[in-house]
Amino acid sequence: MPPLSDSPVLARIKRANPKLVGQWTRRQVKSVAARSGYLVTKLDDEARRYARVSHNDEVALPAGAEEALRGDNPKLVELQQAYDALDIAATSHTQWRTGWLGRNLSLAWFRGDNAYVWQFRQLRNAAEARMYLTLLDVESRDELGLLKTLEEDGRFGAWTFSYGTRPPVSRDLLDSVNEINYLDARMKLSSIEGLRVLDIGAGYGRLAHRVSSALPNLAAYDCIDGVATSTFLCDYYLDYRKVPDTVRVVRLDQWETLADEYDIAVNVHSFSECSLETIRWWLERIAERNIEWLLIVPNTPNQLLSTELDGSMLDFAPEVRRAGYEQVDARPVFESDELRKLIDLHDTFHLFRRVGSGG
Ligand SMILES: C[S@@+](CC[C@H](N)C(=O)[O-])C[C@H]1O[C@@H](n2cnc3c(N)ncnc32)[C@H](O)[C@@H]1O
Repeated sequence: MPPLSDSPVLARIKRANPKLVGQWTRRQVKSVAARSGYLVTKLDDEARRYARVSHNDEVALPAGAEEALRGDNPKLVELQQAYDALDIAATSHTQWRTGWLGRNLSLAWFRGDNAYVWQFRQLRNAAEARMYLTLLDVESRDELGLLKTLEEDGRFGAWTFSYGTRPPVSRDLLDSVNEINYLDARMKLSSIEGLRVLDIGAGYGRLAHRVSSALPNLAAYDCIDGVATSTFLCDYYLDYRKVPDTVRVVRLDQWETLADEYDIAVNVHSFSECSLETIRWWLERIAERNIEWLLIVPNTPNQLLSTELDGSMLDFAPEVRRAGYEQVDARPVFESDELRKLIDLHDTFHLFRRVGSGG
């Protein structure tokens, strides 16, 4: 492996915007590079090394998973062909290309540390202690008491962490609990009668699974994604979790079946991994519907940046405004200044509201 300074990702970032590297903190550069599949981590005092996908195989795969979760599964092959045949900007990938996905995902262990949900990668050394600090931060705002009701079983390779007599936690669980509580605090997610959610770039369905377990007021949760493998996994996982019928996985080639109205659209670590052209396409789909709220969690804390084919990153905040939204909140996902300093993760919630819909 070459050192990070030689990595093509960083080279592309530097080429595209030389000032950027100078301006950014090392942390931000590492964040972007790592999101692209590279990770700088101090595994020992002498060398910086890269860590790649990993999974926890302490919990065996459920029966049939290995046979179903294969690249040659006819369902996945058919989905891929259907997505390839689409002539829409949602399928012109800059990061989520076949080769990149192959390097960043072990299909059957899709809840491991990979392209979908980072676990060890961001926590680096002292992962166990940092996860504990994350838990303390999330727990301090768990007004809905979700850490007492939602469970983590470590299936499909998720790394789990146990502390004392507490039930095990994972990054999937903590991120989801945090997101649900955040939205509840900001726009009363749990009190909206007949709640309807649109999840764009839904991954393997992490948030859909958690929201449908947590919120009895949920009437519809539609997951959609521009990547065939993600739709395939989402469909498989949500079926495995036996989510209620309110949860739907919408194939991209059936995007026109999305509802005309949702209370909120969420986009967690997804737009940042798409081109401006793709993001614009999705924002047009949002704008033509009646959706009051829009949550974006980008890969960089303070800016909404795309990933272009040449490695450059373009500000897509003006596109969000053009779609009719104004920013009503921005705050670090880990709110405690003291804990965040130690956790050293700086993701930020960016919440938008459709102009004119405020009460
Ligand atoms: C880092 S994962 C995050 C998944 C999920 N939102 C979560 O937080 O667990 C990024 C997601 O963006 C999706 N994605 C990539 N390109 C996309 C595109 N062109 N349109 C929609 N989603 C896309 C990927 O398939 C993947 O599901």
